[in-house]
Amino acid sequence: MLTDPARFDFPGDVSRSGDLSSSVGETRSGHVVFPPLTPAEVARGTATFEHEWPLALAEHDAADPGQPYEAMHVLRRPVARSTTDAVLGPLDGSARDLVADLVLDWIDALAPIISARRPPRRWSSARRAERSARLALEDELAPLVGDGRTTQGVAVVLAAGIQVPIAAGAWLLAWLGQHLTGSFDPVHAVWETLRLTPPTWVTARITTEEVELSGQQVPAGHMVLVSPLLLGRLHALVPGDDEDRARFDPGRWTDEARRPGAWLPFGAGPHACPGRNLGTAQLSRLATWATTQTIVLSEKVSIDQSRGIVPAPCLFTVTRRETPP
Ligand code: HEM
Repeated sequence: MLTDPARFDFPGDVSRSGDLSSSVGETRSGHVVFPPLTPAEVARGTATFEHEWPLALAEHDAADPGQPYEAMHVLRRPVARSTTDAVLGPLDGSARDLVADLVLDWIDALAPIISARRPPRRWSSARRAERSARLALEDELAPLVGDGRTTQGVAVVLAAGIQVPIAAGAWLLAWLGQHLTGSFDPVHAVWETLRLTPPTWVTARITTEEVELSGQQVPAGHMVLVSPLLLGRLHALVPGDDEDRARFDPGRWTDEARRPGAWLPFGAGPHACPGRNLGTAQLSRLATWATTQTIVLSEKVSIDQSRGIVPAPCLFTVTRRETPP
């Protein structure tokens, strides 16, 4: 279904201003397909994340010595700057930081719109705040965007490529803080995080014609959901028995015959995540840092389900592990 865009169309835009019913019976040809980030772009963003992460921790330590970190907060700038560097190319530091901060502002302004039970009215304060944050970002981006890309398209890539890895990174820290005291493979820990708590836990398509799905007729114009969260519990895709699959266990991926990612945490088909390699690189760097630390959660994590799934709050402390002589 995700790989058949002619019959399963990609629905609308991030600001919920689109009218989904326009997909009935025809494909939404206007939706842009984003090309995957190149290896050079991924390498640039990864280097920035590695540089910015210790700085963010140090900044917190200077401002609030001895206080726990809040994962969703402390990850904001390292991820925002990393993804901005990857997507926009080498910029001077202050231009990069300004764009990164404006994307964060837009993400914050979008949150009440995405999480509202009904899409807010056009002239509501939430819509006005979102619009002004978006325009401020687009103004800043306009002179920086070339190569046939549009300012709006780049803004969407930046927002998706910052909001989701921040949530994924916070989940990674939440799992490590609850479960792991011994050694673990950082890449396997990333896959376990994306299996048990994929931030985009459900993705949608709209049928463009009547289709048969698992023996059921689905009329044109209906929404069909695919959930990486549920697929990540399937026996056919993940080793372990039913009870075991509910556990965070990076060790399950040491069997190289089993393919991590079969539960589609990055989607699939033409609308699959174009930032997949950057997202996994950012998370792997975070997990690699975590192998040198003991992470302890300060309190039980709650799940905020208002836009994807986010651990909120996720407070944790770290102590550097003694390295064996
Ligand atoms: C761990 C990190 C990430 C995860 C788990 C993730 C997950 C996803 C998922 C599940 C989708 C929907 C795919 C579908 O419906 O088939 C998606 C779409 C998207 N992602 Fe990511 N993503 C991550 C990082 C990134 C990064 C770093 C970027 C950009 C640099 C990015 C940009 C996008 C964009 C632009 C789309 C929309 C694609 C379209 O509309 O065609 N993502 N992502």
